[in-house]
Parts: sequence; structure tokens; C-alpha cells
Amino acid sequence: MTTTTERAVGQPIGRVEGPDKVRGAARYAAEYPVGDDLAYAWVAQSPVARGTLTDMTVDPLVETDDVLAVLWHGNAPRLAEADDPELAVFQSDRISYRGQALALVVARTLEAARRAAATLQLDIEEEPHDSVLRADHPELYTPEKVNPNFPSDTASGDVEAALAGAPVTVDVTYRTPPLHNSPMEPHATTALWTDDDLVLYDSNQHPPGVAASIGGLFGLPADRVHVITEHVGGGFGSKGTARPNAVLAAMAAKVTGRPVRLALPRQALFSMVGHRTPTIQRVRLAATADGHLTAIDHEVVEQSSRLFEFAEQTAVATRHMYAAANRRTGHRLVRLDMPTPRWMRAPGEAPGMVALECAMDELAVTLDLDPIELRVRNEPSVEPESGTPFSSRHYVECLRRGAERFGWHDRDPRPKQRREGDWWIGTGVAGATYPAMAQPSTARVRRLSGDSYEVSIAATDLGTGARTILTQIAADALEVPVSQVRVRIGDSTLPRASVAGGSSGSASWGWAVTGACHSLRESGREEATFDSRELIKQQEKDGKHAFGAHFAEVRVDAVTGEVRVSRLFGMYAAGRILNPRTARSQFLGGMIMGMGMALHEESVLDPAQGAWVNHDLAEYHIPVHADIESIEAEWLDEQDDQLNPMGSKGIGEIGIVGSPAAILNAIRHATGVRIRDLPARLDKIL
Ligand code: MOS
Repeated sequence: MTTTTERAVGQPIGRVEGPDKVRGAARYAAEYPVGDDLAYAWVAQSPVARGTLTDMTVDPLVETDDVLAVLWHGNAPRLAEADDPELAVFQSDRISYRGQALALVVARTLEAARRAAATLQLDIEEEPHDSVLRADHPELYTPEKVNPNFPSDTASGDVEAALAGAPVTVDVTYRTPPLHNSPMEPHATTALWTDDDLVLYDSNQHPPGVAASIGGLFGLPADRVHVITEHVGGGFGSKGTARPNAVLAAMAAKVTGRPVRLALPRQALFSMVGHRTPTIQRVRLAATADGHLTAIDHEVVEQSSRLFEFAEQTAVATRHMYAAANRRTGHRLVRLDMPTPRWMRAPGEAPGMVALECAMDELAVTLDLDPIELRVRNEPSVEPESGTPFSSRHYVECLRRGAERFGWHDRDPRPKQRREGDWWIGTGVAGATYPAMAQPSTARVRRLSGDSYEVSIAATDLGTGARTILTQIAADALEVPVSQVRVRIGDSTLPRASVAGGSSGSASWGWAVTGACHSLRESGREEATFDSRELIKQQEKDGKHAFGAHFAEVRVDAVTGEVRVSRLFGMYAAGRILNPRTARSQFLGGMIMGMGMALHEESVLDPAQGAWVNHDLAEYHIPVHADIESIEAEWLDEQDDQLNPMGSKGIGEIGIVGSPAAILNAIRHATGVRIRDLPARLDKIL
């Protein structure tokens, strides 16, 4: 075995698949050549939010030879019961949300499929619907759990008494709108049946999970569904599980006996693959005159659907951010006639920390105390609700070191003090946190000829650099240069991996890869497999979080209300950083998405139709290059030996947690205007 002098982990190695991507050789789900008989599918979606589909007729003028099949509940193959009712496509006449797939046209050409779908006659008996989230909705209820498995409500001490007796209190309500993930690569599937087995080229975050759920629907064991997901152009949670496109493509391929491709158009993504729930969040804080919190109360109202319960963990981060003797958190849901909300980058933490970190800023203003100092004064020594010690927590260091790097020390706390030309200038700060999770996974390593190694795991790379990091981890565990390691991922037939979600990919897969490589070396064999399940079971789950601090400088046009983020800075403590190049990119990506949440992104609901009014990137605004001025991420070296063999924490989501609040707090500092209803559009500022 070769001895290397320099460890690969920690090096800023470029993405190993980068050259393939640049040359166009990297294939995405809708790009695989699968034969001349490939057929194309187009979805007809429900124009109403609630009702029944009683009949469907195809216009004989457009039903040409090119149209191979038109599927709907009247003729579709029966599927086994789905865990996710949104996957039970064409299994009943019920319409549960606007945009639901009601029929699928399969044709020889994409154009023929699209044209026929547009002319289908759908006979619908419409029913009244309810799509508006309100804090006083009569059907609010308390879920038993919130995602992934937290109690909905927690309480300790006497919050009301503390609020009544405190010299200083804050009682504020923040609203965040529905948001859509909008990955660059829309959801797509190319499906074909070989004998009785199913092959799916599918864009998702979890090939083994997709194989299991699609297999379940079609009555096949997971090992007879082969899901290939070599490259993914983003997901942000919307590809965490199989979406209807995979079921529809598989169904169409079965019925027509041909390979079928279904690439959802951008517009369909707004109803068929999930969104971030809107939230209404009331935060009440009580403090002593010198800024010690005596009570924290965070109550959230959010949306679920008629189909199944999705309960986002919006107030959960509040349970461990700050010390206070009296505390309460709670979640209330209402089932609306809307698509079910799903995961979107830092689901829970991102909207929840908008409310908490803006409320902390409001408290700092009320106390006339520096907002960093307020946070430092309320630093807990253990998790305030569970009592578990933190495996590592360098939040205060992130605030202090970030303040130095950003240049915070001579800040005049009064609003509307700095003006340059037409622009009011202000700065803001907010905390960040995200759980450090690891999930059971299995990896295999084989020694090949020429002293090189092949590592296999059914992980996915969403464009984040996962493949590269696993190569680095394996190289170090095998003590060889990265050039001698080839990592195979993105295929459900490889050893089972956990989902690329919850910022847990590197920790989970890296653990299994490290185990397999060590086992290979110890055994002296040519091949070794390692399953991390037992080790992960033995781990303490509480007390493991990444932390960070976000700093923003904005300028707000005094005449137009336009907001520009002139500086955005993140300082993180997220365990060991495995690859500074891909990590920086992850942090910045999260912060940019946070900027979108603060200023641009909003899925606008038409309550009369139960419909998203904006459903493409022309009208759903995300930050573009011209919105970004100075943006930078740094991190502290954090040692934590209670995590995983690499000592890493997840970094994919923490960038969007707190960055919106830092921007909103900066807007208030610049202008004196406190925005509590996101996004901070200019009409709200003027
Ligand atoms: Mo992330 S929302 O866990 O893919």
C-alpha cells in the first residue's frame, strides 16, 4: 500500500465529475439514450382544487397515430397502496389539489403528447375548497409529532407568569410565505421495463428509497427496480422521495411496452413536487433589564393537506438556541385543499429562525443592547430543554469572530443614521443552527488491479460535491492518493445509502465508506462491506448541532425602497470541513437562498382558485447573479469526536438558517422599518 504524506480530507479538491459536466458527458435523468421507440409523456393537471373527475374524453382530431395511450383513473393499472398518497396517481376519481395529475398522454413525440394533453376534455364536479392559512382557522389542530420525530409541543416553567412579571417583553408575529424549491433540473424520469424488471433513470435524492416505493406500488421487490441517478441538478428536499413523475413514467412504459420519458415542465413543479409551508409565528420573549431571557414562547401555525399530514418542525430550533427558565414551543396545523407541503432546504429551521432571530433583534432594540451581546448573555451551558450537553457548540465564537471579520465594533445601533446618496445603509446579525445527523448506510470497497480501489454506495450527488468528498474520505481511510480511488454512486443496486437530505449525506455515507475501507485493510481481503447501523444506534442523538452567525449589510433606496445586500457574511462552526472548496460553495448557496427568502421568493396564492399565481422563474423570483455583491463564508476549526469518524457536521442547510433574519434586521437598522411579513418587498418598506 502506498503511503501518502498529505491527507486528502481538508484539501480543496475540485469536483471529480467536473470535467464530465463541462464536456456535457454527465447525463441527467431525461438525457439517457434508451432506443428509437422512446415515447414521451405529458401530464394533464387538475384546473380545480377539490372535486371529482367523472369523465375524460380525447379529442378525435388530435388523437393521431402519434398518440400511443391516454391514461386516467378510468383505465390506469391498479397500484398497491402508497405510503405517500400523492403517488397513488389515477387510482381514484378524487381531486385533492389544483395541479394534481388527472391524465397522462403518451405519444411518439413530445409535441404530440403536449398537444393532445392540452385538448383533453376533463369532466369535473367541482366542490368548494379552502386554501388559505389563517391563525384563527377553526380547524387548527395539534399534531402528535412534528418532522422528523419531535413532540409538537414542549413546555417548562411558567411562561405567562414570567411574561407578566418581566420589565421587558417582546410579542411579535412573523409570517413567511409558501416557497418553492425550484431546482435547476426539473423532476424527470425515463422508464423502461426489461422482462418484469423496471429501470428508472430518475432525478432524486435517494435511489434506494425511490426503488422501494416504486417497487411497492407495482408489486415488485426493491431489487427488481433499478434506479439510476448519476447526476442531479439540485433538489433542495423536493427530490427526497419518489415524486409522481416516476410513477407516471413507469405506468406509461408498462402500458405502452416502450421506454417512456416524462420531464415535468417548470410550471408543473409548482404543484406536483411540494413546497415549503407558509407559517404564522408568534414569538414572545421576556427579559430582565440587563438582557437575560426569562421566557421564550414560540407558537407556529402552518399548513398540511387533506391527503396526509406533513408537520414541519418550525419551532424546534428555538428549543436549544437560548437559555431561559420558562419556555414553550408549539405547532398548530390546518388541512387545506392544497398540495402537501414537503421538505425545502432547512425545513423548519429556516422559517423558524426568521421569527426567533428577528424577535431577538427586536428585544435588543427594546433593551438598547447590542444584539450580539444579547445573544452572548443567553448562551446555554447544555441543551435547555433536554439537559443534554452539546457535543460541541461554538456559537458565541461565531458571533465574536464573525463580528471582527465583518467589522461590527463601531456600529451605531440607532436606525436611519447612515445615508450615502439615495441609500440608507444598515447592518444586521442573526444566529444559525442545524442538527448534525448521521443515518445508517452501507458501503463496499474492492481492490482492483494496479493498486486502485472502487468504492460503491447508493448515494447521490445533487451537485454539492458528495462524490468528491467520498473519494477524499476513502483515499485517507485506505492511505492512498485520491487518483487511486473511484467512487460509484447514484444507482439503487449499489449498497444501500441514506437519503441526500437533512445535511446528513457526508456524515452518513462517509461513515460507511470509512468502515468499509478500514475493514478491507484489516482483513487483507480484496473486498469489504460495512454497515454503520449498529454504531449509529449506539450514538447519543441529542446535543449535536452545527452553529453559525450571519451578518448582513444592506442599502435601501430612500426613494424606491429597493433593497440591495451589499455584504453578506457567514461564520460557521460545523465540525471538520472536509473540502473547503465545495463547503464554501454550499455555505454561499444556502446564504443566497436565504437572501431569496428575505427579499424575493414568494409563492402567491389565488384563494378563489386554490392556485399558485406565479409558477415559473419569470414570476417566482430567486436571486440572480446581479443581486449578489460581496458574499463570503468562513469557519472555525471545530474538533468534535462525538460525531462520526470524519468529525464532520452537515453544511448543506445551515446557510439558509438565520441569513434571512440578518438581512431583515439590517433593513430595520437602515430604515427603521421592521418587516414581519416576508419577503421584504419594496412596497412594504416605503
Ligand atoms: Mo434537504 S430539505 O433535507 O434535502
